[in-house]
Amino acid sequence: MIKIISTIEDMRNAADSWRRDCRRIAFVPTMGFLHEGHLSLIRIARKAADILVASIFVNPSQFGPGEDFETYPRNLQRDLDLCGQENVDLVFTPATGELYPEGYETYVKLERLPNHLCGLSRPVFFTGVATVVMKLFHIVRPHVAVFGEKDYQQLLIVKRMALDLNIDIEIVGAPIVREPDGLAMSSRNAYLTTTQRPAALTLYRSLLLAKEMVAKGVREVVQILGEARRLIETQPETDIDYLTICDPQTLTDLDRVDQPALMALAVRVGKTRLIDNMMLMTHTGAAGSE
Ligand code: PAJ
Repeated sequence: MIKIISTIEDMRNAADSWRRDCRRIAFVPTMGFLHEGHLSLIRIARKAADILVASIFVNPSQFGPGEDFETYPRNLQRDLDLCGQENVDLVFTPATGELYPEGYETYVKLERLPNHLCGLSRPVFFTGVATVVMKLFHIVRPHVAVFGEKDYQQLLIVKRMALDLNIDIEIVGAPIVREPDGLAMSSRNAYLTTTQRPAALTLYRSLLLAKEMVAKGVREVVQILGEARRLIETQPETDIDYLTICDPQTLTDLDRVDQPALMALAVRVGKTRLIDNMMLMTHTGAAGSE
């Protein structure tokens, strides 16, 4: 039977008793409105430990003013049913005030990794993410935690934070899960209208195009990004936030694709901001596998 807990004290007690029994705990943090992307993480985590905990918490500290915190899609009952089907042992669903009570003022801020990609247009985002993930780690006390490569920069930041702050938790990355047409699954896809759906596909198409150019020997980043930009701009209602080819470890921009290279992009389709990424080269000379 799936257990649902919403207080820090009850969650701590559950974690303590599992740890006393030498049970290994896996953890998948989410903001809910679960889709196959989340479920793939849950399945990986299920295999990685004895006990599987998922959290559902729409974290206010990672939304900037004017972003979609209030309207972020929510459907707790459906999420709990899905977690039940995937044999999640416990779902932690704290209220906002449980994690951020009156007087809250402590945040975890990374110095460098947030100064790229999504961090540029969402200045508070990664401080909010790092803070809530750190808090959840302290409360759930997992041995292993799974994060999706869909949010590549987030995964890198969580790994860096774990290393820097000596957090004894194994951070596992999970591949991007896509719709049959290639659109990366996201809770925010629910915002897209039927006319915006084809425009949203240009994110994936532009990644494939870039990958193909690299496979054919094109190395100049300006040339690759120029083609990708043209493809995206053929669609109405698209507005590029960023389009970049960068070092997959530091996220600094590259001029040429002759070393490990990640292409990452964020595009607004109507009012919906979508992100996607793909490795263009995994190690010198080899194209990424996707
Ligand atoms: P959320 O957007 O709900 O995503 C939860 C986890 O699911 C993240 O690790 C994300 O990378 C992963 N995920 C989402 N879509 C995916 C897809 N198509 N394929 C593979 N994995 C996918 O990311 C967050 O929530 C929050 O920032 C959180 C880490 C919970 C902190 O609040």
